[in-house]
Amino acid sequence: MQNIEEVKEQLKNLNLEYRKIRDIAKEQRKEFGQKLNQKRKELEQRLAELVAAQESGEVEEIDLTAPSMPNKEIPEIKRGTKHPLMAELDTLLDIYSQMGFDIMEARQLDDEFHMFDSLNFPKNHPARDGYDTFRTEEGFIPPAHTSTMQYRALTKYKFRLDEVEGGGIENSAGQIAVVIPGRVFRNEDADATHEHTFYQCEGIFVSRTANFSQMLGVFKNLFSEYYAEDLNIKTQPGYFPFTEPSIELLIEKPKSLGGKGDGWLEVLGCGMIHPNVLKTAGIDPEKYKGFAWGGGIDRLVMLKYGLTDIRYFESGKLEFLEEF
Ligand code: DAH
Repeated sequence: MQNIEEVKEQLKNLNLEYRKIRDIAKEQRKEFGQKLNQKRKELEQRLAELVAAQESGEVEEIDLTAPSMPNKEIPEIKRGTKHPLMAELDTLLDIYSQMGFDIMEARQLDDEFHMFDSLNFPKNHPARDGYDTFRTEEGFIPPAHTSTMQYRALTKYKFRLDEVEGGGIENSAGQIAVVIPGRVFRNEDADATHEHTFYQCEGIFVSRTANFSQMLGVFKNLFSEYYAEDLNIKTQPGYFPFTEPSIELLIEKPKSLGGKGDGWLEVLGCGMIHPNVLKTAGIDPEKYKGFAWGGGIDRLVMLKYGLTDIRYFESGKLEFLEEF
């Protein structure tokens, strides 16, 4: 659409055209002049219309070349911010990084092998049903847990196991230490504590001497740092096909939320990596041991801020997001 400045410019050019009249044969001057007059009339009319429209507020002039400026009607520009979950995830990953863990990215579409087979789920075993997986028509699986990344992490980093201390890469020689955050999906009814889409973080550690107390040390440090409080942790038996033994980890409810050693919350599943999982990834379970863990990030964040409904995270509610 034309704007006022454009029409004014055209009028200016038209005025220059009038000068040409001198170079034109006398017989043609009348016709030439009439044409220009007609054109000028049209442009002046157009200009009057545009000015009137602008004054009545009908058309807002948009100058695409102008530098961006705050909209006069919105006093303060509202910029997007990082989603609270992603900001908290950064905090968690910083803590893991300081402990020496590498970070790998998960994916949002996976397959039967990574979801089940590589994790020692027997074929047609009912444990596969426990994960309420979605499936695409082609048979792909939006991952129901970040453990789908275990095989990839193990095969990607296993070269480090053969490195000797003082060799190639400092600190990581002789061990695999990686965490993998990711978005996961489960086909279950949503309520205040269940969402079909949520976030998990997976952790894997493998070395010749990996053991249970190292694993508990990682958790103790992680949660004390994250909640800025020296929290107690405890374990109870669990079951996962990919760990032996399998353990559920509980943390003491932070004092800031009224916990005094009486409220225990289950925060993740973990255990010593099952020999079959290591074998599938080409790592000799006679030579190497490992521990792995995985748990929801949403719940940790809810606990930190005293949130009562997990569905807020995916809701896109501005009132919620603006609280952070
Ligand atoms: N993937 C499990 C879940 O979503 C949690 C888990 C348990 C992860 C044990 C692990 C593990 O890495 O070793 O329920």
